[in-house]
Amino acid sequence: MTSAAKPRIPDPCCFVIFGVTGDLAHRLVTPALYNLAEAGLLPDKFCVVGVTRTEMQSKSLHEDLMKALRQFATRPINEAIASKLFDCVTSVNADPSDHGSFDRLKAHLDAIAARGIRNQLFYLAVPPTAFKPISDELGRTGLLHDDGESWRRLVIEKPFGTDLKSARELNHDLLKIVTEHQIYRIDHYLGKETVQNILVFRFANGMFEPIWNRNHIDHVQITVSETIDVGRRGSFYDATGAMRDMLPNHLFQLLALVTMEPPSRFDAHSVRTEKGEVLAAIQVQSPEEALRNSVRGQYVAGRVGDRQIGDYRSAPDVDPASITETYVAMKLTIDNWRWAGVPFYLRTGKALASKRTEVAIRFKQAPFSMFRATAVERLSQNYLIIGIEPTEGITLQFNTKVPGPTVAIDGVDMRFKYKDHFKVAPSTGYETLIYDCMIGDNILFQRADGIEAGWQAVQPFIDAWDKAGGNGLALYRAGADGPREAHELIERDGRRWRKIDGE
Ligand code: BG6
Repeated sequence: MTSAAKPRIPDPCCFVIFGVTGDLAHRLVTPALYNLAEAGLLPDKFCVVGVTRTEMQSKSLHEDLMKALRQFATRPINEAIASKLFDCVTSVNADPSDHGSFDRLKAHLDAIAARGIRNQLFYLAVPPTAFKPISDELGRTGLLHDDGESWRRLVIEKPFGTDLKSARELNHDLLKIVTEHQIYRIDHYLGKETVQNILVFRFANGMFEPIWNRNHIDHVQITVSETIDVGRRGSFYDATGAMRDMLPNHLFQLLALVTMEPPSRFDAHSVRTEKGEVLAAIQVQSPEEALRNSVRGQYVAGRVGDRQIGDYRSAPDVDPASITETYVAMKLTIDNWRWAGVPFYLRTGKALASKRTEVAIRFKQAPFSMFRATAVERLSQNYLIIGIEPTEGITLQFNTKVPGPTVAIDGVDMRFKYKDHFKVAPSTGYETLIYDCMIGDNILFQRADGIEAGWQAVQPFIDAWDKAGGNGLALYRAGADGPREAHELIERDGRRWRKIDGE
């Protein structure tokens, strides 16, 4: 996310992808590289090195990526641009259990460096168990050594650890090999324009910040509801669950952007410091509090739109007796001056009635006294809604007088929709992230402290659920809006979830 008026072209760079034939590289990285090439945002001296675990000719990899682009491109393909991009692709076979193969990778990259492409970006589009072995080997061969003249960067996908302990260990291990500044921990939510806009909306406008605190905000709801079911991801998902898959990363990124203090500068250090601070201020709950303030659910057969979905437990590669949650709702508080006493309700789940990602900020109710002697029975609630999906935009809900001779009041919406104002070529959401890795801007990437603060906040929930086993797992019908218990969680406080379908 460059702060310059015109995006600058990155330095010459060799883009090394581990897991180049995998789903992530096919679905997101390849089309994003193409979109960057089309936008003229790749350096002239650029090449892709795909690392595969089994022998593959460069020509076959070239064809494989071209095929992936045809399948997943977000825009019509310009053949000349695509050929130029893929002509630079070479394939290297390397496996971290074989030192010699990494020595060969080094020799390959040295030869490319001798042609003037000395900066190297290592993108680990691989399962998390491979992060450490690969980075260890890159460290051993000296490939991650940043000599000050050319740069070396390491890009890591989520999930970053499976709990606080493993996240700490992974940070510790990586930081023995590279400096924090060389690591780019990707959370694809930060690639979404609407998510990036939260910072701008809050801090480039003077009118909301004075009321963005416990004096004026009643509570905040963060929702990521999905219609998709577990699909073919059973083995990953059943070992992971909704909490680890979504909370300490995606939902907490939204939470951090909405609640952080204003950074003094728009740079990676200041922004990441403030995000880390607020995540560290999430109150760590006791096991009893964690159980009381959370609901975990699992879907059973039902209909989502026109799709019939079976029980989660009958999905491929899922344990038939699984107690893995496919839905989570939780209540958190943030223990600092700005937010003390304001509840944050977070929920996410699969196989729900509709796809919706939003942050809804509910302001405190105006005093009703003035309307007591009128026919008005109640005031509508004042929400500010930051819509991320399906509607990208911002809506402010307020009360207004219904025209006519009597005093009648109705809630109305003031809406801003991105698509009404900006023409943006469809993208994968990875373009800015990849571009930022190449220009060396870490602002949209997670720092070690932020990651650990996120795990610290969810750890009591994970521990309490582990201990409770299957007790407390609430079942919900696919196509519903979550388990009944999730409604009870918020209604206990005299509040209600916003509907996940409808505007
Ligand atoms: C991924 C999770 O990180 O995010 C998936 O692993 C989830 O389970 C996805 O479906 C949601 O992303 P988005 O951008 O569709 O909200």
